[in-house]
Amino acid sequence: MTKSHITQLTLAQPDDWHLHLRDNAALKRTVSDTARYFSRAIVMPNLRPPITTTALAIEYRDRILDACPTGNNFMPLMTLYLTDNTSEDEVQRAYDSGMVHAFKLYPAGATTNSDAGVTDLKPCAKALAAMQRLQLPLLVHGEVTSPEIDIFDREKVFIDQVMRPLLLEYPTLKVIFEHITTADAVDFVLESDARIAATITPHHLLLNRNDLLVGGVHPHNYCLPVLKRNTHQQALIKAATSGNSKFFLGTDSAPHAQHLKENACGCAGIYSSHAALELYAEAFEAANALDKLEGFASHFGADFYQLPRNTSTITLQKESWLVPKTYPFGDQPLVPMRSGEMIKWKVIS
Ligand code: DOR
Ligand code: ZN
Repeated sequence: MTKSHITQLTLAQPDDWHLHLRDNAALKRTVSDTARYFSRAIVMPNLRPPITTTALAIEYRDRILDACPTGNNFMPLMTLYLTDNTSEDEVQRAYDSGMVHAFKLYPAGATTNSDAGVTDLKPCAKALAAMQRLQLPLLVHGEVTSPEIDIFDREKVFIDQVMRPLLLEYPTLKVIFEHITTADAVDFVLESDARIAATITPHHLLLNRNDLLVGGVHPHNYCLPVLKRNTHQQALIKAATSGNSKFFLGTDSAPHAQHLKENACGCAGIYSSHAALELYAEAFEAANALDKLEGFASHFGADFYQLPRNTSTITLQKESWLVPKTYPFGDQPLVPMRSGEMIKWKVIS
């Protein structure tokens, strides 16, 4: 394949359709990094305690907007954390608020702050039916949590055990399979109807499990779903760069302070908001598919959420820059993706 010689690229302003902003002192870092280049972001609700009601989401949204640099029009799109107790009325309130754009399904115990997650879909039946009726998307962390299932197989097993029955039970529910990591998930999304889409992270495009485990354990590359083998990475790259509108940008940027990552029991999450668009540009360039970046980053997600596409633009230039080893994060350091290494693209306007 011939390498592209593109050195500058102008796109409609992108949105991040899967983001962890955290709260309070952390917001200064996370909100300003994301708001630099992204117009909107779908904000994950896995705080402690989780954001389970519209009232909590609106208060959280205000704290995010307060942390936003002056003059920036960043728009946080809120989500609610689905629990066994989410009522039909809460779904209606979420919809009526106009500020809540989706519900997030965490299987209990699947990842960071997911203890309050769903243990069984049966108690959620009324809430799911209401989401289906109102066309509020369900965002799915697609991993089973049974201890007997190997961690590398948890996404694949989830497709058969949970996703297929869910889609049969709710035939018009809109579902986003979040941060997909396997060829199995790519195939599943491709064979499903138009109400099913998926987000893909920059780390799952640029890294595989060797980056986690070869030459020692690399705690800063530990995330969930865990990085998979190279063949899965290749399937994700093919999907993201295919121009198929079912696949769009969601960074899953998920900061944890350095000492919580470099720990005997390190937290799951990779911080990419400092350089997200540039990292995607690297992945797309390596696949000789820079012409497909705009659809993935700036069009397909908005279309799926039935929101207007952004009309402003952003320009990237082929220019290497050095990522700082750490960034301040509240009163702690944060080690970002590519810490102390070069990134080949830079947003210039
Ligand atoms: O790596 C991850 N970190 N995956 C998730 O699903 C949650 C996230 C977090 O909140 O830290
Ligand atoms: Zn996430």
